[in-house]
Amino acid sequence: MTTTVITGIGELTTHAPGHDRPLTDAAVVVEGSHIAWVGGAAEAPAADQQVDAGGRAVVPGFVDSHSHLVFAGDRAPEFAARMAGESYAAGGIRTTVAATRAASDEQLTSHVARLVAEMRRQGTTTLEIKSGYGLTVHDEARSLAVARQFTEETTYLGAHVVPAGTDPDTYVDLVTGPMLEAAAPYARWIDAFCEEGAFDVDQARTVLAAGEAAGLRGRLHANQLTYGGGVRLAAELGLTAVDHCTYLADDDVAALADSGTVATLLPGVEFSTRQPYPDARRLLAAGVTVAIASDCNPGSCYTSSVPFCLALAVREMGMTPAEALWAATAGGARALGRDDVGVIAPGRRADLVLLDAPSYVHLAYRPGVPLVAGVWQAGRPG
Ligand code: NIG
Ligand code: FE
Repeated sequence: MTTTVITGIGELTTHAPGHDRPLTDAAVVVEGSHIAWVGGAAEAPAADQQVDAGGRAVVPGFVDSHSHLVFAGDRAPEFAARMAGESYAAGGIRTTVAATRAASDEQLTSHVARLVAEMRRQGTTTLEIKSGYGLTVHDEARSLAVARQFTEETTYLGAHVVPAGTDPDTYVDLVTGPMLEAAAPYARWIDAFCEEGAFDVDQARTVLAAGEAAGLRGRLHANQLTYGGGVRLAAELGLTAVDHCTYLADDDVAALADSGTVATLLPGVEFSTRQPYPDARRLLAAGVTVAIASDCNPGSCYTSSVPFCLALAVREMGMTPAEALWAATAGGARALGRDDVGVIAPGRRADLVLLDAPSYVHLAYRPGVPLVAGVWQAGRPG
């Protein structure tokens, strides 16, 4: 197997046990798709190929644990109306559902490919993709089949919103019956949008139970627009992650801390909907594990950039640059129940980002600047 040594790393953030702070003047050896060695540049073993990082910083590849990339159309007019004072509501999802149903498999696939490439250029090396803009048996299954071409981390989100003209109870029966059966072969996870205007706690519980019976692991969208019982449901069920977590009561925070469920914060959504940001400091102080993800979707947040979200988390949610970087890498891995990514250590997947900067701090210090100078995913450069 080909080995590559990356030397001259001015600052290497590993998140590995025992490395509380970044290593300086470091090197990493990649063997095939995995990391073989991490240490000081002076001790680095010889390898088939050598890459000089030129004193720049290297961080783990970003783990974007929440996205909705399978869709057609955009909702720029809705965004513009919001910026002129309208408020965001779950019902906008139906606009994208109509466009997605009308698109061919090829159109959906090439659009996802474009967005995945955009993400990769910005340092994302692990990506979750949800369905949720099909909302028929056929369109949910084909959305997941498209997503599966790009990632193993696929999530069935038939319970995104009740389609126009459909009775909610009848729709939940469809989501937990024939639609689940058609979607399950392409999905690892099941999700529901537990929110006013979407699904209530009882409906979300029913959807997650059906998913679990079909072998899918649960995750939830909860407490994005209002206070409610979604986060407590996620904690009670011991879900791997619950996402948004913007409106939290004290007992929601306590429940997350007790359950170990990861709180995935999506600050691009608050940016794009002009909502108040979640309070990451409050969660961290309570001992909750926090992840940051993009939530890239055409409605509430059409950014594919984890670095942008990381900068928002620092500026708007009270996180330090180190906490935000952890949340967007190791935290994202926890939110997907993965231990092979998010950390740079021997045996882990070789997912690395070379920054055109001397330190990871620049990710927040220089927001909006394309700092990603190189990406390796599973050892492959590009
Ligand atoms: O995560 N919250 C639900 N789903 C998306 C928004 C979908 C849309 O508006 O199209 C989200 O914010
Ligand atoms: Fe989402």
